[in-house]
Amino acid sequence: MIVDALGRRFRNLRVSLTAACNYACTYCVPDGKRLQAATHELSADELVYAVRLLVDAAGIEKLRITGGEPLLSPKFDEFLPRVMDLGLSDVSITTNGQLIQRKADVLLNSNVRRINVSLDTLDPADFRNIARSGDLATVLAGIEMLRAAGLKIKINMVPMRTRNADQIMPMLNYCLEQGFELRFIELMNMGHLRHNNQYQVDFFGMEEILEIIGGAYEFTRTDAPYDSTAVRYEIPGAGNFGIIANESEPFCSSCTRLRLSSNGFLYGCLSNTANHDIKPILQMPEHHAIAQLQSSLVRALGDKQDLSFKGEVTVMKFIGG
Ligand code: 5AD
Repeated sequence: MIVDALGRRFRNLRVSLTAACNYACTYCVPDGKRLQAATHELSADELVYAVRLLVDAAGIEKLRITGGEPLLSPKFDEFLPRVMDLGLSDVSITTNGQLIQRKADVLLNSNVRRINVSLDTLDPADFRNIARSGDLATVLAGIEMLRAAGLKIKINMVPMRTRNADQIMPMLNYCLEQGFELRFIELMNMGHLRHNNQYQVDFFGMEEILEIIGGAYEFTRTDAPYDSTAVRYEIPGAGNFGIIANESEPFCSSCTRLRLSSNGFLYGCLSNTANHDIKPILQMPEHHAIAQLQSSLVRALGDKQDLSFKGEVTVMKFIGG
């Protein structure tokens, strides 16, 4: 097992199936142009092989399927059932929810138990202003379908001062009523947000979020697993919510995440553009591949930051949040 001086090792793998997305969210892309697939994206076969190798070489236990928008990729239908058979302790998906109903068969036949849906507002007009595409009612219907099927649902919301800070309570109440865990993700200073002051204007942090919620509910901070990115809170008798406080309470020192981009690069840290091409390794037979992967993994682990999230020009679309 490869472990660094802070005792960190890779335990959670996030695989981006495609860089393409059917949204163009303001915090992700600058110009409203939808994201396209990367050139030379890995095939479903290569992606499954990569996961299998990383389970062996890095000790990966949990997998999250991301994008881009993973449900947009034709590879999703083959990838999901095949990774469900790899003996991982947990497989989950992050989606913007637009295609949940269209992918109902694949999702519900796969036995996947957990899905995170990115949803920043319950207001249809705000929704279109933020996502610059898609349709709120379709997402809500997709979420309801998953709920009715008994899946565990988390909702990701990125609060932004000028766009959806007024949605914190409506979103929280909706999630509490439905039995979903709402996770507020502090805006990360990534990609184009680094080029002007919009990040500083829109950042809406943990302290302010808690102040708003405190006006309506009593809550207590609860224990989260040591490598969890979220600070979790319990509202007694009503449910839980969490804050992914990249800025306010950075979790770099216990980060166990490893990312694989859709075109075959490993990233050891979201806040570091360093990457490691494993495409050639995926052409090798298993024993060769594992040996080669070990050295990529040592380098990727060395890319992690020691303390705080500094932000990078790396764009989330590419490596899947
Ligand atoms: N800051 C915070 N969250 C972001 N996401 C994408 N870009 C950013 C950013 N700059 C979130 C999406 C989604 C998750 C995969 O990452 O909203 O919920």
